[in-house]
Amino acid sequence: MAGELEQVVVELQRVIAADFPIVSEVNDHLLQMKGKLFRPTLLLLSHQAAGAAAADSRAVTLAAVVELIHLATLVHDDSVDHSVLRRGLPTINALFSHQIAVIMGDYLYSRAIIELVRLDDHEALRVLARVTNEMTVGEMRQLEAHDKLAYGEAEYDALIRAKTASLLSGACEVGALTVPANYRQALARFGMLLGMAFQITDDLLDYTEPEAVTGKPSGLDLREHKVTLPLIAALARVGPEGRRVVAALMEAAEPTDDLVAEVIRLVETAGGLETARQRALDLAQRAEAELDVLPPSPARDALQGSIAYAVERRS
Ligand code: IPE
Ligand code: IPE
Ligand code: MG
Ligand code: MG
Repeated sequence: MAGELEQVVVELQRVIAADFPIVSEVNDHLLQMKGKLFRPTLLLLSHQAAGAAAADSRAVTLAAVVELIHLATLVHDDSVDHSVLRRGLPTINALFSHQIAVIMGDYLYSRAIIELVRLDDHEALRVLARVTNEMTVGEMRQLEAHDKLAYGEAEYDALIRAKTASLLSGACEVGALTVPANYRQALARFGMLLGMAFQITDDLLDYTEPEAVTGKPSGLDLREHKVTLPLIAALARVGPEGRRVVAALMEAAEPTDDLVAEVIRLVETAGGLETARQRALDLAQRAEAELDVLPPSPARDALQGSIAYAVERRS
């Protein structure tokens, strides 16, 4: 997909271009931070795997729009999470300000809408409008999770579906809007399952990988009192002493490095990381089964390969 993805980046540049100084300065910084382009890759692969001809210019624009929606949510997410590092570079809130991050997130998102309207593709607009709305509710779910020690797997599932998997699902679905409905629905389900596995892996990487590898601060979820699957699984197994340590972390406004390290050890020892890994693999397997209805093709093979990538990646 390398050639098509280069076109996506050029298209993204065109779509976000601005002649207002600060906006174009932030744009330049954002374009330097190169991500994995996983969502546009999924969109283009779904497009081909579902039987469409080689990527046309509409598909490239839709892929750029999907990456743009992702980028807008990252700019807001880093402000909400007080994160200072993204893709190995300072976040917008760290380099500029929280105010600028808020406004830029809206700027990027509204540019995505303008582009969708220009394409006059009502179905794509319908899917992506629903998805972005789901993502905001997902981010709100996370912020409003108050009883940290009672936070359960069902709530976590609803959260990761909304904040992450919905967009991966939408990317796959939008890639397959012009093909038979059974392909479209299977690809949407594939994206949803893959997206859940993807977010569980992200949550694991927050525990296991250093910042030099992920390009994001490590251990940030615990510092920000975010309860993710490794901790949920561990809490179901630890005794009162373990729960006391976790409660101490959740009550500390700014947990010390030692306390964060202690909780990470506790989660590891209680098998929380292993349980989360297993759950990601189960979802990955279910995602793979959704591809069975598609005719064999190099694009279908690549979608299959993207499942292993989503759960084995380290950044
Ligand atoms: C980060 O997404 C946000 C999550 C949903 C975990 P990616 O891991 O795809 O980030 P980039 O775009 O490659 O930086
Ligand atoms: C995913 O959650 C954020 C979005 C879907 C916007 P995280 O907060 O875990 O993502 P990272 O780790 O900051 O990339
Ligand atoms: Mg975050
Ligand atoms: Mg994360």
